[in-house]
Amino acid sequence: MTQRPIDSKYIRIFDTTLRDGEQSPGASMNTSEKLEIASVLAEMGVDIIEAGFPISSDGDFEAVRAIAEKIQGPTICGLARALAADIDRCWEAVQVNPKPRIHTFIATSQIHLEKKLRKSPQQVIQIAVDAVKRARDYCEDVEFSTEDGARTDRNYICEIVERAIEAGASTINIPDTVGYSNPWEYGGLIEYVFEHVPNVHQAVISVHCHNDLGLAVANSLAAVRAGARQVECTINGIGERAGNGSLEEFVMNLRTRQEFFGFETGIRTEKIFRASRLVSNLTGIVVQPNKAVVGGNAFAHEAGIHQDGMIKDKNTYEIMTPESVGWRGISMVMGKHSGRHAFINRIRELGFDLSPDQIENAFAEFKDLADLKKEIFDEDLEAIAIRVQNVDMAQGAEAYQLEYLQTVTSLKETPRAIVTLSKGEEILEGTATGDGPVDAVCNAIKKITGTPSRMVDYRIAAITGGTDAQGNVTLTLEEGPYRAISRASGPDIITTSARAYVQALNYLEQKKKAGCRNHSLQFPPLK
Ligand code: KIV
Ligand code: ZN
Repeated sequence: MTQRPIDSKYIRIFDTTLRDGEQSPGASMNTSEKLEIASVLAEMGVDIIEAGFPISSDGDFEAVRAIAEKIQGPTICGLARALAADIDRCWEAVQVNPKPRIHTFIATSQIHLEKKLRKSPQQVIQIAVDAVKRARDYCEDVEFSTEDGARTDRNYICEIVERAIEAGASTINIPDTVGYSNPWEYGGLIEYVFEHVPNVHQAVISVHCHNDLGLAVANSLAAVRAGARQVECTINGIGERAGNGSLEEFVMNLRTRQEFFGFETGIRTEKIFRASRLVSNLTGIVVQPNKAVVGGNAFAHEAGIHQDGMIKDKNTYEIMTPESVGWRGISMVMGKHSGRHAFINRIRELGFDLSPDQIENAFAEFKDLADLKKEIFDEDLEAIAIRVQNVDMAQGAEAYQLEYLQTVTSLKETPRAIVTLSKGEEILEGTATGDGPVDAVCNAIKKITGTPSRMVDYRIAAITGGTDAQGNVTLTLEEGPYRAISRASGPDIITTSARAYVQALNYLEQKKKAGCRNHSLQFPPLK
């Protein structure tokens, strides 16, 4: 990537939605979903996309490789433990991009060294140096991270950072992996690194904050004031446990308080809202209404006194405009009588590039939905577009299809479901009971198909408000080392759940056939 001087006021935005963000429980995405997010991130102007962790699963490798092949503009980065096999696999995935980066890491805190790695501080330094050198043999752009950096002894961190830079790392990331730090302490750590690492100016210092105590963005801001020039963050702040620093909050802090911070980023902030909705739709992780910058209430003024002020002068209560983040709230755009032309235009405006067949299917779905639901919102159209894009993936003669479904629930009886599936010419039928109608349907499908898989995650969210809203179901199945995630949406949550389950079973079969497994990620014992 073009290196800017370290003393410049430009902050690189390193987006890790597709890697750390995907580590949010239940957030896994397939390759085409990741590609869609990556292309929105590129349009938005992020500097680096961390596209995944190639050695962690065949699916992750394939997604990183596809992003590296198709996305131009940002640097495309893959994650690798400080192990030769990880680095080789990472390079295999990212090398096809004109701006590839290998990001390698090892834990540095006392507790991680003793309990997790069971290695001495000097052994870890040697592993880090070897890893950076191996990565540098492949490419010039190498990032090294000191996992659990915020809880690492300061002198040790300075020693390993100096050695990693000497070995050729061009970016050094000092993460607050467990979200333990605070702005004073974390800013102080970054300052300490600048003061005590003699070759620090040969690398860009990066930060990566987790939000366990709600301070990820505040800590990132303190770090850039102390000299960091790359910030790692995710859309909607998704990520491991309580998540990562949120891209939109960090960027809008710098933009809204430009006179205070004096930094700039390359982010086209008007694209933020679209990215936020897309990530939420594709991961099934709902954005809380009061979430800063992108929440449904972020620009709503409820109190009379506030409304009065807003009418007189927006600056009374508005510190940034909704337009500056592309916020459009919930807007009723269409109904039963809307025509095909208007439908296609709106789908395009929402950023979807559908093939002619997909447009046909989407329009037919839109008409069906308009018969059931008076008002169709942008969110409904997004759900339809995502649905038709995904439909192609789970088809084929071997796939199960949902043919019929009936559920019975009443106040006094145990919910029951009758389900019919087809598989090629074969018709399969079964009944089951459950705690509720969704549970009964899933039990019936499990019984009919005899699948040994386990449903490890199921979640449902209403796409818009109202009792006629569409529901968005996301579920994950696991069978040994294989995992499949699927999403479905529709106005009837029971059939939608059944569709998502059947689709997940089909994906799982495809993954098993292709041998596309998740790998266990243990750091190997020292020889
Ligand atoms: O939180 C963390 O330390 C990480 C590293 C792999 C950068 O995600
Ligand atoms: Zn992390």
